[in-house]
Amino acid sequence: MRIDILTLFPEMLEATLATSIVKRAQDGGQVEIHVHDIRNWADNKHRKVDDRPYGGGPGMVMMCQPLHDAVQEVERQLNTPENPECSPVRIHFTPQGEVLKQERVEQLAAEKNLLLIAGHYEGIDERVIETLDPLELSTGDYVLSGGEIPALLLVDAVVRLLPGVLGHADSADQDSFSERDSEGKRLLDCPHYTRPRVWNEKEVPEVLLSGDHAAVDKWREEQMVSRTKSRRPDLLDDEEVDP
Ligand code: ADE
Repeated sequence: MRIDILTLFPEMLEATLATSIVKRAQDGGQVEIHVHDIRNWADNKHRKVDDRPYGGGPGMVMMCQPLHDAVQEVERQLNTPENPECSPVRIHFTPQGEVLKQERVEQLAAEKNLLLIAGHYEGIDERVIETLDPLELSTGDYVLSGGEIPALLLVDAVVRLLPGVLGHADSADQDSFSERDSEGKRLLDCPHYTRPRVWNEKEVPEVLLSGDHAAVDKWREEQMVSRTKSRRPDLLDDEEVDP
């Protein structure tokens, strides 16, 4: 997979992308990530990328031209003789977008190319959004200062699903939202324990020490269901079942 990220703050992304599992996945060749500074496409001598909003009001709005030209050029570069018809899934992060869920992450992890647009300031001129027509994603019902953290969040969630990125031991199949009950509903993960057996007067559940794998599996399943019921009952609602 190749991921291109357009931002006004490349330095916000670079350190995180060079750390942990995302770094390992790049080193291992499972993902190629390119960060582009939108300011490089500003066609004015002050490299201005934002301006005051028409109609007045606080903050600045990102102008159409730099972002539009950046998307066009990055997409042109993606079209190589080996990959002539490459059209990445364009994604714009905004609190007005579809709230990101694991199902969408799984779908995006199956794509060859993602182009992530991280806006800043008060927003992006609506006309360039209409023209680019990206998939709009929100990380949740709160407001961040820009799309960089959502972009990092999506990269992390997608990359850990790519084949070969996680070893068998920390496989993604057992994460929250990946495990399903008998009706196909997504469940939260069960609790985990490690040594020592007693800590702060709290004991590890007996069944985990029993060596009885069937009993352990049954206990974990029950924990996943009871945790989901008490913490996220909405996941068990009928409408939440994936088609
Ligand atoms: N940009 C600002 N807030 C955001 C959010 N909650 N999700 C996605 N992008 C955002």
